[in-house]
Amino acid sequence: DLQLAWQKTSFHFQPQMNWMNDPNGPLYYNGWYHFFYQYNPAGAVWGNIVWAHAVSKDLIKWMDLPIAMVADRWYDFNGVWTGSATILPDGQIVMLYTGSTNESVQVQNLAYPANLSDPLLREWVKYPDNPVLVPPPGIHKLDFRDPTTAWLTSEGKWRITIGSKINKTGISLVYETTDFKNFELLDNILHAVPTTGMWECVDFFPVSVSESNGLDTSINGPLVKHVLKASMDDNRNDYYAIGTYNEANGTWIPDNAAIDVGIGLRYDYGKFYASKTFYDQEKKRRILWGWVTEGDSEAADVRKGWASLQGVPRTVLYDQKTKTNLVQWPVEEVENLRHNSKEFDKVVVPAGSVVPLDVRAATEIDITAEFEIEKEALESLPFSGEEYSCPDSKGATQRGALGPFGILILADKNLSEQTPVYFYIIKTFNGRFKTFFCTDLTRSSVAPDVVKDIYGETVPVLKGERLSMRILVDHSIVEAYAQNGRTCITSRVYPTKAIYKDAKLYVFNNATEASVTASIKTWQMSSARNQVM
Ligand code: FRU
Repeated sequence: DLQLAWQKTSFHFQPQMNWMNDPNGPLYYNGWYHFFYQYNPAGAVWGNIVWAHAVSKDLIKWMDLPIAMVADRWYDFNGVWTGSATILPDGQIVMLYTGSTNESVQVQNLAYPANLSDPLLREWVKYPDNPVLVPPPGIHKLDFRDPTTAWLTSEGKWRITIGSKINKTGISLVYETTDFKNFELLDNILHAVPTTGMWECVDFFPVSVSESNGLDTSINGPLVKHVLKASMDDNRNDYYAIGTYNEANGTWIPDNAAIDVGIGLRYDYGKFYASKTFYDQEKKRRILWGWVTEGDSEAADVRKGWASLQGVPRTVLYDQKTKTNLVQWPVEEVENLRHNSKEFDKVVVPAGSVVPLDVRAATEIDITAEFEIEKEALESLPFSGEEYSCPDSKGATQRGALGPFGILILADKNLSEQTPVYFYIIKTFNGRFKTFFCTDLTRSSVAPDVVKDIYGETVPVLKGERLSMRILVDHSIVEAYAQNGRTCITSRVYPTKAIYKDAKLYVFNNATEASVTASIKTWQMSSARNQVM
């Protein structure tokens, strides 16, 4: 089936076949990046979950290894679920993961590599006295999962946090240990946010407010802030907040309570869930992995024999310019796949027009674009009371004075299929501008049974900054980054006509009052499959 075969990606992580969900235990060890993931060896839907394993030298070209852990003990009989790696100062590696027991109780288990001198860490051993943690009093047996990477306190003890909920309040419990076998529950929880429901896959890590490198998980100090992320089971989105960690009492507080975890910022405003970071000690960066689900039907997944992708790993940094958000950016190694670049310098796109960009097939392509809006239009425009929200708008067809303008991705020559990625600007009562970044899937496919949402949010734009976007297109996935990664949108799209050489690119401007000038650069992307490492 050509339609379905077309959807397989060429530079995103995906297993040969079957179902994948959360990233698990990512780490760098002895020259290799390791990636584990929730995997169903028996089909393209969730179930029979094991830890599959792959390794890479560059985070882009991957080699599959044998399955690392299967459900073969009473304490993980119903699934080897999500967990995280901790590298100890002496080089030992410990893995903590959730097991769903033979009675479906969620417990935490310890595992470690059988042989640290195998650089591929192929064999994993489960600690014989597992589980090391069971749900504490007051916590439901189905609400206790996904332990984090551990961090060291100044007293030399390790701490981890585990998400849960009490009634509808999402919480994160903190445990202390010295040996990863015996744990003590701290009196204080790390944080709680009412109404947010179960917190899955909590992540907790430091970011530097003064340097441009990532930080190892145990780093703390005056020039450090801490990010708390939780995956909201209720709405299937990954929310984060930036705040301050108080080691003495074991709690974390957000910088701005109005944008606390679950009610403020998201890593990504499209499909991106159960994500997890790790510290890459080789390149001194923190890297984020996120699970990108399908937007087609389960029946289609079964027909094509696979479901889900991982997003291109992203570096994560504190935004030292805005001081309110993180910036995420595809790891630099993905740029090694670039070839056949094309430049479109200062293309004038008048209000209400679409301009084709002469590139070869645009199915595997990396795009950067900068937009300048006519100055007079910005200045002369009266303040308007306009309210806007990407998901509640009519998408790229809703015309405003200063938007939408951007790029049509995976568009056929008649524009009967197209995925617009765009900015939309409104002038507010105080004369300031508010910029939105959106992706509109409503016309992404003529097929009836696929997700056709409109994604997006505001993106901070500081005085004097140009509007810029970067878009990675890889068959059925479109990853869009605005303003160097302040706002990100990952989409799954299923065109039927705009495929292979019939997938074209256009720049468009659907604003009514302003012409824009676009400077665009594109690169074809080589496949990362079957390449020698
Ligand atoms: C998140 C999640 C985790 C769990 C795993 C099971 O997608 O539900 O909470 O550990 O997936 O596969």
